[in-house]
Amino acid sequence: MKNIIITGGAGFIGSHVVRLFVNKYPEYNIINLDKLTYAGNLANLKDIEDKPNYTFVKGDICDFELIRRLMREHSVDGIIHLAAESHVDRSIKDPFTFAQTNVMGTLTLLQAAKEYWESLPEKYEGKRFYHISTDEVYGALQLTNPEGIESPFTTKASSSEHHHAYGEDFFLETTKYTPHSPYSASKAGSDHFVRAFHDTYGMPTIVTNCSNNYGPYQFPEKLIPLFINNIRHRKPLPVYGEGLNVRDWLYVEDHARAIDVIFHKGKIADTYNIGGFNEWKNIDIIRVVIKTVDRLLGRPEGADDDLITYVTDRMGHDMRYAIDSRKLQRELGWEPSLQFEEGIEKTVRWYLDNQEWMDNVTSGDYQKYYQDMYNR
Ligand SMILES: NC(=O)c1ccc[n+]([C@@H]2O[C@H](COP(=O)([O-])OP(=O)(O)OC[C@H]3O[C@@H](n4cnc5c(N)ncnc54)[C@H](O)[C@@H]3O)[C@@H](O)[C@H]2O)c1
Repeated sequence: MKNIIITGGAGFIGSHVVRLFVNKYPEYNIINLDKLTYAGNLANLKDIEDKPNYTFVKGDICDFELIRRLMREHSVDGIIHLAAESHVDRSIKDPFTFAQTNVMGTLTLLQAAKEYWESLPEKYEGKRFYHISTDEVYGALQLTNPEGIESPFTTKASSSEHHHAYGEDFFLETTKYTPHSPYSASKAGSDHFVRAFHDTYGMPTIVTNCSNNYGPYQFPEKLIPLFINNIRHRKPLPVYGEGLNVRDWLYVEDHARAIDVIFHKGKIADTYNIGGFNEWKNIDIIRVVIKTVDRLLGRPEGADDDLITYVTDRMGHDMRYAIDSRKLQRELGWEPSLQFEEGIEKTVRWYLDNQEWMDNVTSGDYQKYYQDMYNR
């Protein structure tokens, strides 16, 4: 495979995937297709933007004619699809945009890829459509052990000091889809379309469902970067409900490495769950973040604990997500490389060291700069 479109490459996870592919595979042409919504920021890719095997295209995945043209012009062999509206709170306020981008955008990519690949003599041979999805499509698990019990499973991402499971069950690849938020409903819809294109037309598709990612370049509306920035500026930390909701956390570069392995070695038409067996209650992860920021800024322990402010819970807030990623470990040998404590330390350090990136994002300057550049 030589010519690969990565959609959403200017976003959080997409930028890590683009960087990994551009650096690791100089023989591939990587085309980053991104609309540069509020979540897209080309500053995330400054270090690779001049590489000869990298091309940026500003465009919308819902634009059928554009995708058709890109498929032909670049003789595209593979699509790694990450572009999406990704923030649950925004989906509650504006579900239409989520249906448009996540469902219609995915369908548009599928249909354009189908047309192009079916027009070639080799048809689908050597082609791949890889769709990145979320564990949220599986719905919510029970929180049966509110205090947490020793988790039955581990990976290198599992926290050493805090190795808890908050319930007996985990999401498997076979777990029935039960999305609750407009975001997860739209992701579920797109996952179904991807699988339908395999079952109906024989398109070589793969779907993966990953847990919460954290790490550098995440838009500061999401919990960890938002809170690091707020703690730094001593602003309140709004915690939903009692902060008891549980999520599994994975360092973003480990997700990107999983995407690399699965894109190259994953079984066509299969699904893989990606996670770290690293469950945390929101309130506990917030305490770890406060402690780490305070330590790195030289503030006394406990100095910022009173920034925690409990706010009305999110509507339809899923209680617990916990993913079982043993299939990926077993079949493709992927394992996370970074333990949670190391990952959090690296992440907090990155945001504290990259205040300019953060200031450009929070002020909106990043958008003016790049939008103007591409509108000229
Ligand atoms: N962040 C997580 O924890 C997580 C976990 C599991 C799965 N995912 C999935 O991974 C993917 C990437 O998530 P993220 O957190 O990096 O998202 P993000 O919001 O940081 O980035 C999304 C990117 O997509 C682009 N985009 C949005 N609409 C577009 C459109 N119509 N056309 C072209 N580009 C468009 C944006 O400009 C942005 O660069 C999403 O599909 C998401 O559902 C995310």
